Amino acid sequence: MKIVVLQGSPRKSGNTQFLVEGFKEGAEKAGHSVEILNVGNMKIAPCLSCEYCHTKGNGECVQKDDMKDVETKLMSADMIVLASAVHYFNFTGQLQNVISRFYAKGTMPAKKYSLILSSYSPDVYSGIVETYKHIVAYSNATDMGMKCINGVEQKTDDNKKLMIEFGSSIK
Ligand SMILES: Cc1cc2nc3c(=O)[nH]c(=O)nc-3n(C[C@H](O)[C@H](O)[C@H](O)COP(=O)(O)O)c2cc1C
Repeated sequence: MKIVVLQGSPRKSGNTQFLVEGFKEGAEKAGHSVEILNVGNMKIAPCLSCEYCHTKGNGECVQKDDMKDVETKLMSADMIVLASAVHYFNFTGQLQNVISRFYAKGTMPAKKYSLILSSYSPDVYSGIVETYKHIVAYSNATDMGMKCINGVEQKTDDNKKLMIEFGSSIK
């Protein structure tokens, strides 16, 4: 299965990156191909709500930025992992921009999704989880599981093991 991870934290070697690398290691061991896209550091503007994509654009966005390459990869993915640092009880703005830009295509064809979140505090996930569930349902897809990790020090052997196990569990 081809898995694309949308890593939404702008911190290049941050906690979310650490968690998704563990996931990748496990999923690759299970025979999947995994590509991590660091969308937190890409130039991807929010949707303009101009409806160009649904009128003249025939599914293409009027904005020419890094979303084109991301979208090409997403369109052939069997599974999408939404991975984010929690920013004010939500996805990072960078990841939300990517999700909003799905609008040009309606939904992505992937039929499997997962969610990986990193936060300082526990119990800050309910809003994102609810949004995630809507995205999965709207895409007629299946939730393959979620991992939400909190705390100051997240780059631990235990978390690495947890994420490798999570990746390995993906069927
Ligand atoms: C702008 C901003 C907003 C944040 N908001 C929250 C929050 O609402 N709840 C929380 O527990 N942590 C919050 N945090 C902390 C991060 O979620 C946490 O440090 C996370 O592990 C960072 O992951 P990263 O290293 O991948 O960026 C926030 C951090 C930033 C920079």
